[in-house]
Amino acid sequence: MTTTKTGCEVVTLADGARAIRDCGNGEVMHCGTGPAVEPDAIYVGPSRLDARLAEGGASLVLFDVGLGAASNALAAWQVSEAAPPGARHLELVSFDNEVLALELALLPENLASFGLVDPAARAAVRGLLLHGHHETARTSWRLVLGDFPHSLALEPLGAADIVFWDLYSSRTNPLLWTVALFQSLRRACRDGATLHTTSTSTSARTSMLLGGFAVGASVGTGSRDETTIASTHHHALQAPLGARWLERLGRSSAAFGSDVLDGAGALATVRGLPQFQ
Ligand SMILES: C[S@@+](CC[C@H](N)C(=O)[O-])C[C@H]1O[C@@H](n2cnc3c(N)ncnc32)[C@H](O)[C@@H]1O
Repeated sequence: MTTTKTGCEVVTLADGARAIRDCGNGEVMHCGTGPAVEPDAIYVGPSRLDARLAEGGASLVLFDVGLGAASNALAAWQVSEAAPPGARHLELVSFDNEVLALELALLPENLASFGLVDPAARAAVRGLLLHGHHETARTSWRLVLGDFPHSLALEPLGAADIVFWDLYSSRTNPLLWTVALFQSLRRACRDGATLHTTSTSTSARTSMLLGGFAVGASVGTGSRDETTIASTHHHALQAPLGARWLERLGRSSAAFGSDVLDGAGALATVRGLPQFQ
């Protein structure tokens, strides 16, 4: 059965998983294999969150960009809660401009589909909604409500170690996929940070490259052949974009984000980046 809350509804995917659809733009969150699979497969696994926490040392800061129903954030929260003694503290910062999807996931009939049967997980997201933050011995979770570019400008520079980039597509919101926004995000990242996203679009990848990230292919899941990982260093990438991707970029009719006015100049800049030498 489909349940709705103004602006969002629960839909059933082809494989039977339930997911949340934004009624305004038609986009479905975790539309490939659903919220039980994609958070681990695309975000938590490739970010090596468990290994990075287990290294010990200073807190690890994770920017969860696009809280939605909190499926990505909860998957990270659970890894942190289960981390061994001596592991780094996780500072989880979730960004969104509304909480409708999370409120919909919290309806009793939706708890099981959205990983909210566990009372501790439910208490964490309820605390986040009520107070804007939730703390345990292992994990601090903070909610930043507002338009992401504005919210990002208020975050300290050089803070984020991991970014889960799960906003709507550039078709729905081109302003969230510009070079300028990735430049700001790069400044908010610490050296060694990685960014994880499902988008493999050429213009999304060129915005990240021109924004100062090295960019590579990451694992696929379900019907997705691959996803995207970006990093502050191309040496850190297992499968950096290379000559074949550059060749395709040269032929693309939608190569750049909406803030690139000089396509030829941008193409030359991308070709000159260290990862393509
Ligand atoms: C694909 S969904 C995120 C799904 C989520 N990561 C999850 O695990 O359930 C995209 C989210 O981005 C949020 N969003 C869209 N535009 C935004 C903006 N300008 N600023 C902040 N958040 C925005 C939407 O409200 C939506 O919750």
